[in-house]
Amino acid sequence: MSSGEITINGERVVVRGAGVDEIMGVRMAVIIEGTDRATGAFDGDDAETTRHIGAFVGEQNVGCATYLCGERDGEAAWQLRGMGVLGAYQGRGIGALLAVESERLLGLASPIRLMWCNAREGAVGFYERLGWTTASEAFDVKGVGLHRVLVKRLT
Ligand SMILES: CC(C)(COP(=O)(O)OP(=O)(O)OC[C@H]1O[C@@H](n2cnc3c(N)ncnc32)[C@H](O)[C@@H]1OP(=O)(O)O)[C@@H](O)C(=O)NCCC(=O)NCCS
Repeated sequence: MSSGEITINGERVVVRGAGVDEIMGVRMAVIIEGTDRATGAFDGDDAETTRHIGAFVGEQNVGCATYLCGERDGEAAWQLRGMGVLGAYQGRGIGALLAVESERLLGLASPIRLMWCNAREGAVGFYERLGWTTASEAFDVKGVGLHRVLVKRLT
């Protein structure tokens, strides 16, 4: 078993780089539905430097994360957007696997070491367990809810 795999209740979960089309269903269901957002597309989804990463059970995508290459405070940085796991698969370690394996893949693919995200208030604890630190007060994203900026350095 490679480091990008776990077995949960006999089901093999694999994390790998994906096309945006492969992860859009989960992004729509978990991140976009219930918000005011008109579209599931993010600026930069199609950029050559963008990395979409998915967790898969067989052919089924069950988790998604997108890393956009940009800058933060003058330093090259990955912005994590659209991290989500399908409701039926939450709480089984898939989100953590997705995050850890994504960081391993990004670390191999690029010298960029800084990551940041605007995390939903309710998910801050998830990120903190994974070594992210809070870098802002809570702020409201209209139609989505309270968020905080979180940052992490890849080691
Ligand atoms: C947040 C989310 C990605 C976590 O994925 P998951 O597969 O459910 O998380 P895991 O099972 O891998 O949990 C890993 C650890 O984080 C903890 N955790 C999970 N969600 C958490 C949360 N919302 N707050 C605090 N801790 C959380 C788990 O208890 C677990 O802790 P442990 O290692 O001590 O057992 C998922 O619940 C989700 O998609 N939520 C809805 C969308 C969302 O909020 N996305 C984040 C947008 S910023």
